[in-house]
Amino acid sequence: MATVRELLDIGVARLRESGSESARLDAELLLAFALDTDRTGVIAHTDAPVGDGPAARFEAALDRRAAGEPVAYIRGVKEFHGLAFGVDPRALIPRPETEKLVELAELEIVRRLVGAPRPTGSPPLRVVDVGVGGGAVAVTVAVLLRRRKMADEVEMSATDTSEEALQLARENAVAHAVGDRITFANADLLPADDARPWDLVLANLPYVRSDALPTLPKAASFEPVLALDGGADGLRVIDRLVGLLPEALAVGGAALLEIGGDQAAEMRALVAERLPGWSCEIELDLGGLPRVTILRRPAR
Ligand SMILES: C[S@@+](CC[C@H](N)C(=O)[O-])C[C@H]1O[C@@H](n2cnc3c(N)ncnc32)[C@H](O)[C@@H]1O
Repeated sequence: MATVRELLDIGVARLRESGSESARLDAELLLAFALDTDRTGVIAHTDAPVGDGPAARFEAALDRRAAGEPVAYIRGVKEFHGLAFGVDPRALIPRPETEKLVELAELEIVRRLVGAPRPTGSPPLRVVDVGVGGGAVAVTVAVLLRRRKMADEVEMSATDTSEEALQLARENAVAHAVGDRITFANADLLPADDARPWDLVLANLPYVRSDALPTLPKAASFEPVLALDGGADGLRVIDRLVGLLPEALAVGGAALLEIGGDQAAEMRALVAERLPGWSCEIELDLGGLPRVTILRRPAR
């Protein structure tokens, strides 16, 4: 019977050969998956023998990874902002840089609810996550609000044009016990409803330039093109959403839009043209790259 160390050595060699740039990490995560444990369990027990069943599972997982499939799809789970999200090819794998969008959204909501106390009987804040994918943003924000006991003060909606992504988002919402806190809709950008305008619009829409798609790492080819393709200039979908904001956003409302790390100048130009007089700040992510655009309409 092979030991954990022996299987890891085989896995690392196999994945290096296939071109993986994170062969050791991938092998550790996949062996942990095969053994039904976590990565620490693998690293801490390198002399332990591995039974035939888990060894075969590891072998099958290595085959998939060597063919380019992302580790997250093989494991079926991805950590995002400290929460475990179910992931599969129905939706984009949540990226760490999107945690910045969630942090800013939480701050914005708390600032509105606590920073400027509202009169008793005020209606809940209306928040929408546009392009919800597998639910990373909407579900995490809903969980954070529940922890702060603010869930009843916010009405959260989420849209996507992919019915498959919406199904996965609903599953993740239920798994995190916020299934009854988010209204999901299959809609192009904003939900079609005549209710009050939105206080907060959140969006991590596709922003990769179409001609850059073939240059992405092979793992991205397993993700839905609809989740990545931002058109010729990368900002085609975001541009359409920005165009809706004057009608859709409440007075004092804000839109928090994720962009690519090289798109700050284009985004500023787009906002200057589409929303003259609006404020446009761009926050950096942990890697120091421009990541979240914050748009606010001018006070009347
Ligand atoms: C980059 S993924 C982000 C998914 C998720 N918000 C996240 O951060 O992990 C973009 C999502 O936007 C959706 N999408 C693309 N065009 C859309 C549109 N016009 N209206 C609504 N959703 C759209 C895609 O289906 C995809 O799920």
